[in-house]
Amino acid sequence: MAYVREILTEGHPTLRKIAKRVDPKEIREPLFQQLIDDMFETMYEAPGVGLAAPQVNVSKRLFVIDVRDDEHEPAVVINPKLETDGDEIELKEGCLSVPGMVGDIVRKERVTLTGLDRNGQKIRLEGDGLFAQCVQHEVDHLDGKLYIDRAANVRPALTEEEKETAEA
Ligand code: NI
Repeated sequence: MAYVREILTEGHPTLRKIAKRVDPKEIREPLFQQLIDDMFETMYEAPGVGLAAPQVNVSKRLFVIDVRDDEHEPAVVINPKLETDGDEIELKEGCLSVPGMVGDIVRKERVTLTGLDRNGQKIRLEGDGLFAQCVQHEVDHLDGKLYIDRAANVRPALTEEEKETAEA
């Protein structure tokens, strides 16, 4: 069974901590597997395209992502190591921990990501577009950062397009 967990909102101290590296030995433990299941459930229920563990009050370095495109399967990434590449582009962005708001943020166009999957196996993922944006957003969460820290023109999401803006 997977359970929807409460998503913390801006102001909660866990969102501002640097999350701890996961000990690979911990990954196969039932409680950790439950955390992963619950994070997927919570992301889909929100709904969002990504969710980082600190957003459910677990200060550990993992996130789930499902951008629903043709190139990327839903994934959990544990202890991610991120490399960015390409041009800097301005994007519209939102966050489940800052509900109802959007802002404009500059991010890199492309990412390459390595880490561990839910079996503790090494994985390598890459992409651009929404996938790249979401990965950068989630890794920021693991470092205690929120998009509003450096976004311009943070405002209530009023139009339909803004309401649909990737929430992660
Ligand atoms: Ni977020």
